[in-house]
Amino acid sequence: MPIIGVLVSGRGSNLEAILRAIEAGTLHARVGLVISSRADAPALDIAARSCVPTCVIAPKAYASRAEGGQAIIAALREADVEYVVLAGYKPILDGAVIRAYPDHIVNVHPSLLPAFAGGMAPRPQTEALEAGVKISGCTVHFVTEAVDAGPIIAQAAVPVYDDDTVESLSARILEQEHRLLPETLALVTAGRVRVEDKRTRITPAGKNA
Ligand code: GRF
Repeated sequence: MPIIGVLVSGRGSNLEAILRAIEAGTLHARVGLVISSRADAPALDIAARSCVPTCVIAPKAYASRAEGGQAIIAALREADVEYVVLAGYKPILDGAVIRAYPDHIVNVHPSLLPAFAGGMAPRPQTEALEAGVKISGCTVHFVTEAVDAGPIIAQAAVPVYDDDTVESLSARILEQEHRLLPETLALVTAGRVRVEDKRTRITPAGKNA
């Protein structure tokens, strides 16, 4: 059973969606560790309710981003984590962590990348409304050192309505995140997603990964 580590900073609704998919049997994996950048993240309670081990690695407790990165790598290795998910994780991840897990770290971003890259929610949703786009959505992608620019694995689109607010658009996108992230993780952890030339290719079901 592949072991997933989830990095969080806040609410944790995507973490919850992952845990639900595991319970429902649609994602064959185990969350072995949740690392939060903040001690007060509600996501920690969600993990605890599912008896998932947690730890807090707050960037400000370290002299440099590199030292914080080493602490993250050590915690992930200790928990035998093979795949890492950034689920509402706010800090910029240290490059050493990304290099330790090449094509094994995924992020969910609340826009159709490469549009409205950078910035945490609700900035991408706010920028989408300001730009007047008629369609927005979410993207699940592999994490590389260029922020929000790694190979795209999956996207889901939602309509943008004239009377949308940041809250209503964010809620519509979030519903898709909760479906798309576990579905994509199922493909990734089954070894069905490979990166070729900065693009991802998905091995059809039934073929050898
Ligand atoms: C989501 O909108 C995600 O796309 C973004 O941050 C938000 C996290 O929400 N990266 P939650 O903590 O999973 O509820």
